[in-house]
Amino acid sequence: PSETGRVLSIQSHTVQGYVGNKSAVFPLQLLGYDVDPINSVQFSNHTGYPTFRGQVLNGQQLWDLIEGLGANELLYYTHLLTGYIGSVSFLDTVLQVVERLRSINPGLIYVCDPVMGDEGKLYVPKELVAVYREKVVPVASMLTPNQFEVELLTGLRVTCERDGLEACNILHAAGPTKVVITSLHIEDNLLLIGSHQRVKGQPPEQFKIVIPNIPAYFTGTGDLMTALLLGWSNKYPDNLDKASELAVSSLQAVLQRTVGDYEKAGFDPQSSSLEIRLIQSQDDIRSPQIKYRAEKY
Ligand code: ATP
Ligand code: PLP
Ligand code: MG
Ligand code: NA
Ligand code: MG
Repeated sequence: PSETGRVLSIQSHTVQGYVGNKSAVFPLQLLGYDVDPINSVQFSNHTGYPTFRGQVLNGQQLWDLIEGLGANELLYYTHLLTGYIGSVSFLDTVLQVVERLRSINPGLIYVCDPVMGDEGKLYVPKELVAVYREKVVPVASMLTPNQFEVELLTGLRVTCERDGLEACNILHAAGPTKVVITSLHIEDNLLLIGSHQRVKGQPPEQFKIVIPNIPAYFTGTGDLMTALLLGWSNKYPDNLDKASELAVSSLQAVLQRTVGDYEKAGFDPQSSSLEIRLIQSQDDIRSPQIKYRAEKY
């Protein structure tokens, strides 16, 4: 498959390390996409380090860049990708961007990672939750929440596979035709649940992929995962299960290399958060070997 596109990616930039655009742009380029990054923040390093410095783009400044592109008729995109967004005013402007891009390409695919928190902890202002729920979900084509985010978006407690599937149904009814819960922690396993509603009002096709938990903590993996899901689901638009197998297999290869390289260098991978070995994993991104299989429900 050779289907590619032009992606506008609105995410964080870090000078050192791989989160946000730093973990999304390179893989999408390797998969053949033109990627135009807008850096929603420019920080020295990710926020998990003891300190960080840098600048935050506001909604007005985002709109200014869009106007600049528009003035030169450069706003034709096949995909919009968004990740961490830190304020209601920035998220409102992203909604305006969606509208503007769809006025130029009505077929624009909006892939939204509704980054709000993880493991029961909210790390955005609480006012953002209602905006995601009421305004963003309805215009998204594909959503990639984690377990906590899917609970925030649906109001369901999600503690088993059945809850996850039900939550996907609720999200489809609200808008997106593709939903991937990128991880559900169930007992000792990580589960990815995918759901594709081919026809509005009809039951979606659903599957899971079991992912063995690696005893280490990574940053940038959520952003990489969503980028890979965009990349592969566009190449296999009717096979979200296959796209997810490719994305998971790539990501796991990156994580295994990361842990291995830290160990070789004499670090204990459990002692702190690991920067992913993205550049060193380019073969695994370009042509992943499928090692993790989707099981249909
Ligand atoms: P989610 O938690 O839904 O995956 P997130 O935005 O919270 O999304 P991460 O927690 O970074 O992002 O996880 C993204 C993906 O990275 C997961 O789907 C999983 O495949 C993989 N991943 C992250 N940490 C691990 C780990 N310790 N072991 C195995 N896979 C992991
Ligand atoms: N973006 C920024 C600016 C961050 O500081 C971090 C993590 O510290 C992330 C994104 C994390 O992304 P992920 O959920 O992909 O690990
Ligand atoms: Mg997570
Ligand atoms: Na996610
Ligand atoms: Mg995330």
